[in-house]
Amino acid sequence: KTALEVETIENLEALYDRAFMIVKEAVEAGSKNFGLATGGTMLPLYDRIRNSKLDFTKCQSVNLDEYVGLSKTHPESYIAFMKQQLFHEKPFKKSNLPDGEAIDPSAEAARYEELLKQLTLDFQLLGVGENGHIGFNEPGTSFDSGTHIVKLSDSTRLANARFFPSLDEVPTEAITMGIASIMRAKQILLIAVGEKKRMALEALLKDEVTESIPVTILKNHPNVIVLTDLAI
Ligand code: F6R
Repeated sequence: KTALEVETIENLEALYDRAFMIVKEAVEAGSKNFGLATGGTMLPLYDRIRNSKLDFTKCQSVNLDEYVGLSKTHPESYIAFMKQQLFHEKPFKKSNLPDGEAIDPSAEAARYEELLKQLTLDFQLLGVGENGHIGFNEPGTSFDSGTHIVKLSDSTRLANARFFPSLDEVPTEAITMGIASIMRAKQILLIAVGEKKRMALEALLKDEVTESIPVTILKNHPNVIVLTDLAI
């Protein structure tokens, strides 16, 4: 049986207040290593954290993913996103992201996976893609995967094109924590907001665990909270 705890909160302000409380409780309970995500879903949460008294200076952060081949100063790089949304105001003792500019991306993925094995994630924040991806683990990714290089699907590149001047400028590859890397986190908070996420959420709540919808793996995790505004 699944240990998924689903909280449906229709009002988005209230939903993000609750998300913030869950993060705050984790900090207060002594969580030290936080897995972080980028993307639109996280903006209202990071806004609340920026404006809070939470202190991460004794904590480390580890991000899920980064584009390959995008300069760290490009505003859509995930390192730039994290600095702007969180790290400038809420610095961590150390913040880790895959280096999307590494000359050898595969070696960089291996380095990152090694780091993740050394450092237990106490808390992992997750969004979910319309196709059920978590991190950049697209449908079909092995549940045994560690950090690896992915070719981004057309649908993911299209979904992210809104942040770039044109579709051509959306990177074609990324480095992402794998499904196995994510599943090692002790606690997971998944936020799924908006109609576009209905298919993925429905699959998580109703379908069998299947590699064709990566988010369904969370049914096998012992400590997951799902926050959503969707009634399923
Ligand atoms: C981001 C990430 C992605 C996003 C997902 C949802 O670091 O790993 O899996 O969480 O693509 O994106 P948004 O929140 O923009 O809908």
